[in-house]
Amino acid sequence: YPDFHALVDLQAGLVDRSIFSDEEIYKLELERIFARGWNFMCHESQIPKPGDFFLSFIGDDSVIATRDKTGKLQVFLNTCRHRGNAVCRAEQGHTKSFLCTYHGWTYGLDGKLIGVPGYKDFYHEDLDRSQWGLVAAPHVESYKGFVFACMDPDAPNLNEFLGPVGRMCIDQIASRGKLAIVDGVSKNIIGCNWKLAVDNVFDYYHVITHMSAFMSGGTAPVIRGGPGGSEPQRTVLGEYGHAIGGPKLTEEDVDAMKASPNDAVAQSRDLYHRMLPEVQETLGDVGVYAQGHPHIFPNFWVSGNQVSLRIPRGPNKTEIWWFTFLDEDMPKETRDMRMHRAIHAFGAAGMLEQEDGENWDQSTRATRGVLAKRYPLNFRMGMGHDIVQKDEKSGISYIDTLVSEHPQRWTYRAWADWMTAESWADLKRDRAPIPEGIA
Ligand code: FES
Repeated sequence: YPDFHALVDLQAGLVDRSIFSDEEIYKLELERIFARGWNFMCHESQIPKPGDFFLSFIGDDSVIATRDKTGKLQVFLNTCRHRGNAVCRAEQGHTKSFLCTYHGWTYGLDGKLIGVPGYKDFYHEDLDRSQWGLVAAPHVESYKGFVFACMDPDAPNLNEFLGPVGRMCIDQIASRGKLAIVDGVSKNIIGCNWKLAVDNVFDYYHVITHMSAFMSGGTAPVIRGGPGGSEPQRTVLGEYGHAIGGPKLTEEDVDAMKASPNDAVAQSRDLYHRMLPEVQETLGDVGVYAQGHPHIFPNFWVSGNQVSLRIPRGPNKTEIWWFTFLDEDMPKETRDMRMHRAIHAFGAAGMLEQEDGENWDQSTRATRGVLAKRYPLNFRMGMGHDIVQKDEKSGISYIDTLVSEHPQRWTYRAWADWMTAESWADLKRDRAPIPEGIA
């Protein structure tokens, strides 16, 4: 395998373009990142009862998240053990069992093979059905209703994997009151490498991309710290590549919100919930002031009241999913505003993401050309200027700066760690330490 820390040379702030298009690197990502790590499946409220199911992905593998008869969360590979056909085609629903439409093998909600047509006459009862159940994820856990699964038996539990920053990413949305998921998940495919879509999560430099959306009035210019902006940003660094990057709430903001937590500005900036004492307690100072984009490595992004997955579909194709949540106790006007933004900002009909997608597509194309490939990409913004500080109380590291590419460098550094490690033991031992001082 190549030296991944050389391809992602963060001493020089350079990233080799091959990591966005090389087939072998892509296959290894599926192996060492997605098949090894914790992957978001769905929200518990999407499968509240035994027999409810939701189709998701682990890397490129289709998986079924369900509840067995006892109500236990289970995740199975969506492939029949006979010839491999999918045993579930519906994206979401309720069932008593999973029937393969090819030859009729049937699996229970606990994954056991419970029906084989011709078991007596054709198999002569010579098939140990107990050995041919659906392949189950060894780890399935949820944190505050968000269900994750992991296929690697040696992985740490979800709590340890998330760590304080990963948990804070989910707290940022879970603390928004009585969460109710909006029916349906917005899905669309963009012709880009999944990492470029993830990279963009932290990108507060690309304001020009969205000028047409701003000019058409389709969405408000929410990027306060962009070029020409004077407001600070905050990047929070976590274990295994989790991070939060984006604008920093100022003390003046906090004072204004405290004075009027339900006013239109607080609502439109999506910040009113931060003023709740229990939320301030959960997030702590570092989290309360970081109002940007929380990201759980490798591909789970929290954006306000939405959650997005960047699902790899090949080195040059990414499926983007958006789950939308609303606080049941929110005033109707606020709920309507949230829905309007959910539909018109991101997803298939979202102006912002369609504009982004054009750029990601072109960037991905330019990682394939034999000539363009010779020239690495520049990730040098803020290098040698960003100062990593540590919050005394929580021990969490953060950087307060203007627009910077530090969160991207942190994510690619984590990517190189995951790609280099051959096992969880390696990854725990050899991942890059969070830097201190000037980074
Ligand atoms: Fe499923 Fe044959 S492939 S029963």
